[in-house]
Amino acid sequence: MKTKPDWWNGFDVSFRPVLDIVPVKQNNAMARYLIKKLGLRPGKRFLDCPSGPGRISIPLAKKGIRVTGVDLIQSYLDDLQRKALKRKLKVETICCDMRKIDFNSEFDAAANIWTSLGYFEKESDNLLVLRRAWQALKPGGKFMVHLVNRDWIMANFAPQHWFQSKDVHVMVENKFDYATSLMNGKWSFVKDGKITSHSFPLRIYTYHELRGMFAKAGFSDIQGFGSIEDEPISRDKRMMFVIGTKQK
Ligand SMILES: C[S@@+](CC[C@H](N)C(=O)[O-])C[C@H]1O[C@@H](n2cnc3c(N)ncnc32)[C@H](O)[C@@H]1O
Repeated sequence: MKTKPDWWNGFDVSFRPVLDIVPVKQNNAMARYLIKKLGLRPGKRFLDCPSGPGRISIPLAKKGIRVTGVDLIQSYLDDLQRKALKRKLKVETICCDMRKIDFNSEFDAAANIWTSLGYFEKESDNLLVLRRAWQALKPGGKFMVHLVNRDWIMANFAPQHWFQSKDVHVMVENKFDYATSLMNGKWSFVKDGKITSHSFPLRIYTYHELRGMFAKAGFSDIQGFGSIEDEPISRDKRMMFVIGTKQK
């Protein structure tokens, strides 16, 4: 199965309802965790890349943090701006491929949240996402990646599962390629009796691999957690939170 560098284009419309599936309470808890782990304070600059429609940008902006949201999909950023306007918040948005951002020592902290890494066919492109984040940070700044844990997937592999977000039923069929660590997923969205399907591979990582990538991108003091309660990463933890620092 071949993927295009911009495979999210086309998938974006079908996937949009899924971005609202996490309850606001959980988004707020995630925002509080970012504040704690990345040392954010009112007035500090935070790069949310990719931000989607602002699931995390909005609660952070509410805390007085100066947020820049970057995403490939302009309609997601338009949603983010609508939410910000409604709450009288100021959030900067930039429509850009996450491999192409070109910030230099501008942000106090940055994050790539909710399995937004591993989208590119070339491993060097996935690493580039981390390198660009490192470049964007001020010395001393911290970066968090929050993504699905390959070890959990191996222990709990489900070739097929269903879930629902509002009026959309989603079926995900997964095949795992051991040679490449690519999870080839077919996502089918059922709404009003109409089915739309999209297929793409997602590179999934172990904590050990991610640590190596963080180090290659220039980060030091690399830490990993299996939950927002700071539990250790293990095969029982579905998600991981990996944090690195750009040394002063
Ligand atoms: C799973 S969503 C997560 C969004 C957000 N971080 C959150 O937690 O809600 C992944 C996001 O990556 C964006 N995306 C996909 N490919 C991208 C690319 N090449 N550059 C920038 N953003 C991209 C999508 O548009 C989508 O908003």
